[in-house]
Amino acid sequence: MANTPDTILVIGACGQLGSELTLALRDIYGGANVVASDVTPPRHADLRDSGPFEHVDVLDTKVLGELASKYKFKQIYHLAAVLSATGEKNPKFAWRLNMEGLFNVLDLALEQQVERVYWPSSIAVFGPGTPRHNTPQQTIMDPNTVYGISKQAGERWCEYYFQKHGLDVRSLRYPGLIGYKALPGGGTTDYAVDIYHKAIEGKTFECFLSEDTHLPMMYMPDALKATLDLMHAPAENIKVRDSYNLSAMSFSPEEITASIRKHIPDFDIVYKPDARQKIAASWPQTIDDSAAQQDWGWKPAYDLDAMTADMLHNLKKLKAEQAV
Ligand code: SER
Repeated sequence: MANTPDTILVIGACGQLGSELTLALRDIYGGANVVASDVTPPRHADLRDSGPFEHVDVLDTKVLGELASKYKFKQIYHLAAVLSATGEKNPKFAWRLNMEGLFNVLDLALEQQVERVYWPSSIAVFGPGTPRHNTPQQTIMDPNTVYGISKQAGERWCEYYFQKHGLDVRSLRYPGLIGYKALPGGGTTDYAVDIYHKAIEGKTFECFLSEDTHLPMMYMPDALKATLDLMHAPAENIKVRDSYNLSAMSFSPEEITASIRKHIPDFDIVYKPDARQKIAASWPQTIDDSAAQQDWGWKPAYDLDAMTADMLHNLKKLKAEQAV
């Protein structure tokens, strides 16, 4: 790394991904150089105490501009978004936050000569017409959630800013992300986080997807590694400028239940599919991420059982600490 580390802005730093990615970035670049920002303050001491926090609404260009002048950011990670299930409750707001927020960041990056931008996309860019198995990098995309539509449009705009303006913006199509540190907010894949909490609490889990609904998923340490590997790769290696397919594992509610029962044999689940079933049914089951493997050496470390063992271990530890 250079002698003067980059100054980095993380927008959406208190979300499921942001709260872990911010800490990982602070480990690399130093706490003072990574500015966490969100519309809500950090809930956990590790995020709160490890570096600066700024209140930022990504729709507020004035605050974004002032912040950029103050800190002279070299990199921006823009993670703030309304997810798939929540987006369906207020489609116009989801569209506005997801799209206008992205434009604000891309334009800010150009104006302030930010060197590198990260923006997450999702498996939600795919839809009912997409091949469901081993979904290729380039394929039919007919998303039917406002979240998916905004991510697909966002991917095109990222590529556009790269082609037209030379902006080094990089992106990954995350599968469902699973971590123990922060709760997710309003996604269709989020049952796979909640299920571990209920298992630890000795409760029956009511699943909003049917037992055989397979979805692509990823454990948080792999998601952090993929993001940092992508952002640290030389620009000439980044051949995909809309967003990279990314894969680690695929499982159904029935399979994650079996994995949990290896540790908690009497864990119980009931199935009550709701509107989210239709969203899940429109997404791929498995993803072909060979472009990410070839271009910047992507390789996941966790499968379902390794993730389950780690999730249960860490959640137990967290609950014990909270009980003290
Ligand atoms: N995890 C997201 C969701 O379910 C998909 O990217 O909305």
